[in-house]
Amino acid sequence: MNHPAMQGLNLDTPSYVKNAKLVAWVLDMVALCKPDNVYWCDGSDAEYQRLCQQLVKAGTFKKLNPAKRPNSFLACSDPTDVARVEDRTYICPAKKEDAGPTNNWMAPAEMRATLQPLFDGCMAGRTMYVVPFSMGPLGSPIAHIGIELSDSPYVAVNMKIMTRMGKAVFDVLGLDGEFVPCVHTVGAPLAAGGQDVAWPCNKTKYIVHYPDTREIWSYGSGYGGNALLGKKCFALRIASNMGRAAAGGPSGSPGWLAEHMLILGVTSPLGKKYHVAAAFPSACGKTNFAMLIPPAGFEGWKVTTIGDDIAWIKPAADGKLYAINPEAGYFGVAPGTNTLTNPNCMASLAKDTIFTNVALTDDGDVWWEGMSEAPAHAIDWQGKDWTPAIAKDTGAKAAHPNARFTVAAINNPALDVAWDDPKGVAIDAFIFGGRRSTTVPLVTEARTWTEGVYMAATMGSETTAAATSQAGVVRRDPFAMLPFIGYNMSDYFQHWLSLGEKLAEGCKTSGATLPKIYTANWFRKGEDGKFVWPGYGENMRVLKWIIDRVEGTGQGTDNVMGVSPSYQDLTWTGLDFNEAKFNNVTSINKGDWLKELQLHAELFQQLAHHLPPALLDTKAAIEKRLAA
Ligand code: OXD
Ligand code: MN
Repeated sequence: MNHPAMQGLNLDTPSYVKNAKLVAWVLDMVALCKPDNVYWCDGSDAEYQRLCQQLVKAGTFKKLNPAKRPNSFLACSDPTDVARVEDRTYICPAKKEDAGPTNNWMAPAEMRATLQPLFDGCMAGRTMYVVPFSMGPLGSPIAHIGIELSDSPYVAVNMKIMTRMGKAVFDVLGLDGEFVPCVHTVGAPLAAGGQDVAWPCNKTKYIVHYPDTREIWSYGSGYGGNALLGKKCFALRIASNMGRAAAGGPSGSPGWLAEHMLILGVTSPLGKKYHVAAAFPSACGKTNFAMLIPPAGFEGWKVTTIGDDIAWIKPAADGKLYAINPEAGYFGVAPGTNTLTNPNCMASLAKDTIFTNVALTDDGDVWWEGMSEAPAHAIDWQGKDWTPAIAKDTGAKAAHPNARFTVAAINNPALDVAWDDPKGVAIDAFIFGGRRSTTVPLVTEARTWTEGVYMAATMGSETTAAATSQAGVVRRDPFAMLPFIGYNMSDYFQHWLSLGEKLAEGCKTSGATLPKIYTANWFRKGEDGKFVWPGYGENMRVLKWIIDRVEGTGQGTDNVMGVSPSYQDLTWTGLDFNEAKFNNVTSINKGDWLKELQLHAELFQQLAHHLPPALLDTKAAIEKRLAA
């Protein structure tokens, strides 16, 4: 520990940190990253306020008008650092085939050699924040601990909202508890006395996962999933590996699932409660669905939020699948959010929120496209004057399309009472949904677990601004996990199939039933290019049909892919939506589906290594029905 870079540094670890492996690792990382200071976050509110003030002083945060938006801040990022960087994201197990064809891979030794010079001295002139966090309720048997080392105070305050972050984590960790080490740097060392910028980052970026040793290393970005390492990196990419590794062994455990899913509770007027987990690709309205307010005609129904983005799902002794939300906050897409699309979300954002890349209004509040009537003038996310006239002339957006809010779950008026329950909630149904303007019907029920896995595996979706790629192009996004699976996609399909088989076996003795599986598509467009289905709260109509089917009372008709409702099987009270429109969003066009199946074939070709034969059999059965 006598590295010259560490001389003069206060390396005292707080007395309550007793985990020798953690202390040794922090010292190693200090020696590598060479920060000017090391600060151990305690997760207190006082600390949060102090760090926010520091961010205001540094120019990263603007404090919003407390009369309009109490205890809230606006950060505007560097224009080159606005979204997850999928092309810079790597999964690095020893063997390339274990990362699979959908992930970028480099041999671990080669990646370590690449990162070593980048991380060497990367925190010079900065403070290294030691951020202890728990994914899932602290101390829950299904929670896991991570420690993020970051040179970004913006990351530290966001992690306070997004996770159970702070001192209590060290108690759970104890002397020898396990944690996932996560190292993050913005990659912008400061020369002695050097001037900082409001949003430091580096044009070189690496978001790296070593599943074999369960480590995360992130370089060059300060934004979202690139930098808040508990979210996509840990809770999906590393956790999906953990869930699969837990399968098998002497106990024949089915393992568990880490999924890109919201979790909601839905209570019927009779007071019966159901739980649904739903996977949609990024920026396809998961937060809206998780906070849905039932429309007119659904009096007595209630929807409550357990999670809006990630679910960890584990089989329990009663034969059911239980889900927890490993996060403690929402990092949601702001544009398009308003009091009609998501009133609960707007209420959540009334205070205590960090906004990133939205516009600043003249009265010190925030605005984004689709929030409300446009202000006459604002400062856009890049710090430029913005007016509706400028927008009309130049197309300039006031808020970046991937602008975000970070807010604690406890701000959500629709928060489910069980959201923090360490046991989780028993899942009755899974929904998989893509953004498809054509082809895919409003809702389809899989007849079997395998058919459901097939539907989820072959899901396609038009890309959004959540990642730096061309938006609006249809790409296959199996299980909405394409950017998030931490191992070979076909092995992941097999993990789902095997887990289903084991669960079905258990159901024979427990009397439990497997959750039903559905696909949904809210995004079909008419010939006028407009969405036909009204979406948002009206999605309750589809949700109710799903609940009816779970109860065994809902009617449906068999089609080539599964079971779908006819017009009269949905509840239409309170909505003017005629049968012609319904047919517009539910029709199955043979020509479109022949093309669609061709795309499934291409996907299966890409994923041929370890592709479960059951999926090929399911495809053949659909083709046969389509040809009949
Ligand atoms: C997210 C995403 O931030 O999926 O949740 O991109
Ligand atoms: Mn997401």
